[in-house]
Amino acid sequence: MKRPSSSTVIEIAESQIPLGEKKSKRHRKSSISTAPDSDCEMPCDDPGPPQPTPTQPLADIPATIYQDIERLRAPESAGGAGLTANDITRLRESGFTTVESIAFTPIRKLLGSIKSIGEIRAERMKSAATRLIPMGFNTATAYLKLREEMIKITTGSAVLDALLRGGIETGSITELIGEFKSGKTQFCHTIAVSSQLPVSLGGAAGKVIYIDTEGTFRPERIVEISEKFHMKPEIVLANIVVARAYNSDHQIHLLIEAANVMASGTRFAAIIVDSATALFRTDFSGRGELADRQQNLSKFLRLLQRISDEFGAAVIITNQVIANVDASFMHGPASKPAGGHVMAHACQTRLMLRKGSGDKRICKVFDSPILPESEAVFYLTRDGISDEPGSDSKRPRHGSHDPDDSD
Ligand SMILES: Nc1ncnc2c1ncn2[C@@H]1O[C@H](COP(=O)(O)OP(=O)(O)O)[C@@H](O)[C@H]1O
Ligand SMILES: [Mg+2]
Repeated sequence: MKRPSSSTVIEIAESQIPLGEKKSKRHRKSSISTAPDSDCEMPCDDPGPPQPTPTQPLADIPATIYQDIERLRAPESAGGAGLTANDITRLRESGFTTVESIAFTPIRKLLGSIKSIGEIRAERMKSAATRLIPMGFNTATAYLKLREEMIKITTGSAVLDALLRGGIETGSITELIGEFKSGKTQFCHTIAVSSQLPVSLGGAAGKVIYIDTEGTFRPERIVEISEKFHMKPEIVLANIVVARAYNSDHQIHLLIEAANVMASGTRFAAIIVDSATALFRTDFSGRGELADRQQNLSKFLRLLQRISDEFGAAVIITNQVIANVDASFMHGPASKPAGGHVMAHACQTRLMLRKGSGDKRICKVFDSPILPESEAVFYLTRDGISDEPGSDSKRPRHGSHDPDDSD
């Protein structure tokens, strides 16, 4: 079978987008694109009186916070960097689509990543970007306010949402770790749908980028899960931009393309990579290639982090578990997440999924700056991630194990 090139994949996906009609970036109303002029079509059906209002406009979401790279075309006297159209094209080709991306990247990396940029221009860009993007100290009070306003995306299970204090955080990386069939892909499919919900219904009211490295993305599942959320499947499907990655280089390249797609003027709520590590593990094998593998994985994760910072999108990635050879017979878990320290340091929230009996699955907070190491039970159903069929939501248990857990 002829495999499409990455650009074909993105092109096909982009052409499916009914919402983000590629606005001329030069004619955007301001550098901050606000929700009221959003062209997002709502995928919710009328669910009837008991349901919250389904046609809520997207105005309940805060402004998209990034500033387009075009901003740096302004002369230095007007706060820009005096870049030419050619400079902008080169920046976009290297995945630098926002002023934030320049501000967040060290000058050495800018010089290494952007073709023939030159030191003087790189420095000019850098100083314009750091003037435009506030990156200094702030009070903890201001940070608390920001966190209180942060949008969280529902997992589809009230129990899991409670465990995660509201759901999946936007603007940071959440890693789903687990062996095969533990529910990682089902989780990804559910978030691809739920993140399109209005904020008032537990979503982030935006489109989704989905990078599939294992060939397990199934639009049919999106249709089924959309029905649970009373959303119109055809709109939900059209709001998901999917690309299949065939090797680790291609996976990094797709992320650069994703940065360009995300800067198209439409809001993207989530970027999903299922799996983040698999291709790196197959492309680099053995101890001899370990350093190269980790270096490339780190490059990929840094880019993901930058995209998450720039666009405020939720980043959800999956990871496998591997045998923990360091564990002794009696001590230490028998398995651990792949990707070593590089993965451990790149992900803000690490969730470990494991199988229970039947459709039951257990999610354990493996590492988080805010959540205790507690766990919760959820189910894999036709609706995606769900609470126990036929039950009301339950509270998560702290540090306990489910008695029926067969593992
Ligand atoms: N339509 C469906 N209805 C109910 N359960 C499903 C459905 N599709 C998949 N599943 C469940 O999801 C499991 C696979 O989970 P998946 O997320 O693909 O695992 P992985 O962690 O390997 O990505 C299947 O074994 C099945 O239990
Ligand atoms: Mg999977």
